[in-house]
Amino acid sequence: MQPFFVTTPIYYVNDKPHIGHAYSTIAVDVLARYAKLRGRPTFMLTGLDEHGLKIERRASEEGLSPKEFCDRMVPPFRDAWRELECANDDFIRTTESRHEKLAVALWKKVEAAGDIYLGDYEDWYCVGCESFKTEKELLPGNLCPDHKKPVERIKEECYFFRLSAYGDKLLAYFEAHPTFVQPEGRFNEVKAFIREGLRDLAISRTSFRWGIPVDGNPHHVMYVWFDALQNYLSALGGPAAPGTAPLFDRFWMDGGDRVHIVGKDILRFHAIFWPAFLMSAGLPLPTRIEAHGWLTVNGEKMSKSLGNFLPPGPLVDAFGADVLRYYLMREIGFGQDGDFSHANLIARYNGELANGLGNLLNRIVASLVKTSFGGKVPVFARDALRDEDRLLLSVADKASKDAAAHLEDIAPHRALDAIFELVAATNKYVDATAPWALAKSGDTARLGQVCYSVLESLRWLSIMLWPFMPSKCDGLRGQIGLSTLLPVEGLDLWPSVFGALSSGLTTNPSAPLFPRIDKDQEQALMERFGLRKPEPATAPKPAKAEKPPKEAPTDASSADAGDTIGIDDVMKVKLRLALVLEAERVPKSDKLLKLKVDVGEAEPRQILAGIGLHYAPESLVDKRIVVVANLAPRKMMGHESQGMVLAASDAAGLSVLFVDKDVAPGSPVK
Ligand code: MSP
Repeated sequence: MQPFFVTTPIYYVNDKPHIGHAYSTIAVDVLARYAKLRGRPTFMLTGLDEHGLKIERRASEEGLSPKEFCDRMVPPFRDAWRELECANDDFIRTTESRHEKLAVALWKKVEAAGDIYLGDYEDWYCVGCESFKTEKELLPGNLCPDHKKPVERIKEECYFFRLSAYGDKLLAYFEAHPTFVQPEGRFNEVKAFIREGLRDLAISRTSFRWGIPVDGNPHHVMYVWFDALQNYLSALGGPAAPGTAPLFDRFWMDGGDRVHIVGKDILRFHAIFWPAFLMSAGLPLPTRIEAHGWLTVNGEKMSKSLGNFLPPGPLVDAFGADVLRYYLMREIGFGQDGDFSHANLIARYNGELANGLGNLLNRIVASLVKTSFGGKVPVFARDALRDEDRLLLSVADKASKDAAAHLEDIAPHRALDAIFELVAATNKYVDATAPWALAKSGDTARLGQVCYSVLESLRWLSIMLWPFMPSKCDGLRGQIGLSTLLPVEGLDLWPSVFGALSSGLTTNPSAPLFPRIDKDQEQALMERFGLRKPEPATAPKPAKAEKPPKEAPTDASSADAGDTIGIDDVMKVKLRLALVLEAERVPKSDKLLKLKVDVGEAEPRQILAGIGLHYAPESLVDKRIVVVANLAPRKMMGHESQGMVLAASDAAGLSVLFVDKDVAPGSPVK
């Protein structure tokens, strides 16, 4: 069986993981789980991109060294992927020595090929993208088209990669590999970009230090993208001499699929720079680069300044990892932009999972199999098939083949469409065969056939849906008497024979897998995400028997209820009224403002506040604000901060607490 290597982009550590990152990682996990089910030797890789100016500045804003800052950002990512049941086989950090060593090795290969030279560079640079921009690409006011922020003029000595020599080679390669980049429209954009002419690429920097030093000239550090792209090899232990790095040989050198899943914004780096570096180093190219679209949240672009930056954790807490995985893969056509909407998630959950799949299980296992067959899987009589049965079998066969084809073609949303054809057909089969009537009339043979067919269909579904919802599928399997799925290399577990479920197995009907979210629960969930106002208090509602997926929704106030402190603790925090005397931006930071404030002391204090995305500095002068006056001083981006400004934030933004009367500076706030 052909090896399958599949990767996520490595995420910048300047932010905690959000739902957009989760989308990529879940998609890759789904593909990896599918390949594992088919018995293919599979390796799923994710990790972190830790070098570059963006990270260096972010660390400095936090008053930490870059390495300390990166170390702190590792757990949020690792934990998020674990919570989301993403079973990556490795997690690479670009600050690990295994990566740094191999990045240097690849640089040397490219250098030996004559593709690196020293020169001077002057151009615009967007720190957000960690990428140079041509004049043509910029928006009026020299703004980056993606980040809508001013770019910086950079002039320095750089090493260059001879990218201009690779335009024709890349186009020829694309010609010979027509599905190398998908979707096709994006592939065409890449080709058009190359046809306009490629410029050589600056691949080192001298104006900051947070990068891998260039061997032989440590005055230079590698350009972050040159370093980052190589994670795909270094995690496998390459480039390396044959036989010295078995993973590298198996998953990169010896054939099989090498698939990079990336967001559309970073396609150019993967479809142009990366193949060119590899061609230069004489290494095989990836076999497929698949660009997915961007997620908006409830119709808006996700951004920190809009305050709708959605981390996956609270969604997992509210709905469970599997439901979130399912929703993201089902709702958004892979390759298209799509919207994450809490309301849609609940609608799909109720319609497709609770009513569609969950009900099927409850109707048959919890009632009919239990009452009519003592909870045992009845017998399947292949020689007594009727038309309804044959129809179900043919739908199952088609669903399995179509879903497999769509997953091979990296279209998980289409695979789910195909799989849900079987869910719908099985529900129709139950309606058409009316098993309750059969039970009533005592036609046990036919009833057994019907129950068996539904159970077998559920078994097929538990395999086909496993890449998307591993825990729920294992739960489903447990209820129909099967063990959890454990993929084994070399063994294809994808369903192909209808009737393979053993008769006589003991089913275990237990709590509904997908209990419906009723109106009250939906209201509570929407409130919890700040999407609907709490309803005016009414008489308490009777308790509901069913619980929502993971835990009962609670509103924010009740979630905090157990978390109280005594008045002594409150009094430890010295809140003081402060009059803003001066305010200015901290150079090279979008977020930080430096305030000089009067807190009734002999000298004014300097306080740094991360409110620069929400306030112009001049708008704060002469305002009365509230500060924490006894916070230990700390350094942020090289400036000392002697206190903390209080502000409230919600989904709509951030608001500093202003005092509306002329209270004297230094007055206590209680
Ligand atoms: N570090 C680089 C990738 C280097 S790979 C050798 C990087 N990191 S990133 O953290 O900024 O973005 C990582 C991925 O997250 C990208 O594929 C990007 O498209 C994706 N997303 C970021 N925001 C997103 C959405 N709102 N929606 C979907 N994906 C998004 O780029």
